[in-house]
Amino acid sequence: MRLQGKVAIITGSGSGIGRATALLFAEQGAKVAVVDINRDGGEATVSLIRDQGGEAFFILADVSREEDAERISRETVRRFGGVDILVNNAAIFVIKGLEATIEDWQRSLAVNVIGTALCSKYAVEEMKKRGKGAIVNLGSISSVIAQPEFITYSATKAAILQMTRNMAVDLAPFHIRVNCVCPGTILTPALQNPVEQQGISLQQLLAEEASKHVLGRVGEPREVAYAILFLASDEASFITGTYLMVDGGYTAR
Ligand SMILES: NC(=O)c1ccc[n+]([C@@H]2O[C@H](COP(=O)([O-])OP(=O)(O)OC[C@H]3O[C@@H](n4cnc5c(N)ncnc54)[C@H](O)[C@@H]3O)[C@@H](O)[C@H]2O)c1
Repeated sequence: MRLQGKVAIITGSGSGIGRATALLFAEQGAKVAVVDINRDGGEATVSLIRDQGGEAFFILADVSREEDAERISRETVRRFGGVDILVNNAAIFVIKGLEATIEDWQRSLAVNVIGTALCSKYAVEEMKKRGKGAIVNLGSISSVIAQPEFITYSATKAAILQMTRNMAVDLAPFHIRVNCVCPGTILTPALQNPVEQQGISLQQLLAEEASKHVLGRVGEPREVAYAILFLASDEASFITGTYLMVDGGYTAR
């Protein structure tokens, strides 16, 4: 068990990569606070964890609201006694070029960037009491490369990568490590929902996306969860302020 006895907060764990991470963490002995703005998704993740014999509870929260960010840590401490790990995974996908409206910018910055900062702010207070901790932020290939009509989303993911470095510097004196995982295209509802809206088939999209990855396919949420697990665990004790691409070689060429 690689996370035996650890308490982990995972935001956006009612779906996709967050859910896969919550399930893997619980399998590895962590007690998991499942945080999501979507009650049905979050409660379903908790049920899946309990069905496999793990410990978890659900917190309904919007990471972009400061009172919610504060409550996430408070409720986790009340339930599990402290906080060891925070995974800042919740995000929205506003994928637009310069035509983006001010509302597009404000919402994507609020959830992806400010949400990451606020959840970290309150979790860090609890980690300091433990004398150590680990934070894993979710970046993207969009943190480091430019794709067409991706300005809004890319700006938030690049900010998260740089915040990872800044936080690593600021929190090192407290033995809190901060790292970033940058996935390529992963088959999650975030990918599936827009496809349904655009009326193109998922098969078409997957074939197109697969060709961009050196490994010739898109990724599975659990393949990202393993990278998050490694960086959150004590196995990564000398790793901070960096990022791990989990992109099937997308950015290698
Ligand atoms: N799927 C991909 O191809 C891909 C690629 C690179 C990076 N990522 C990153 O991985 C992370 C997870 O993506 P996913 O594909 O699993 O997405 P997803 O849409 O399947 O899951 C995101 C979850 O976050 C929740 N959420 C959204 N706004 C929230 C808020 N304000 N407060 C709390 N919860 C909120 C949603 O309800 C949802 O359950 C994101 O940070 C995303 O940017 C995904």
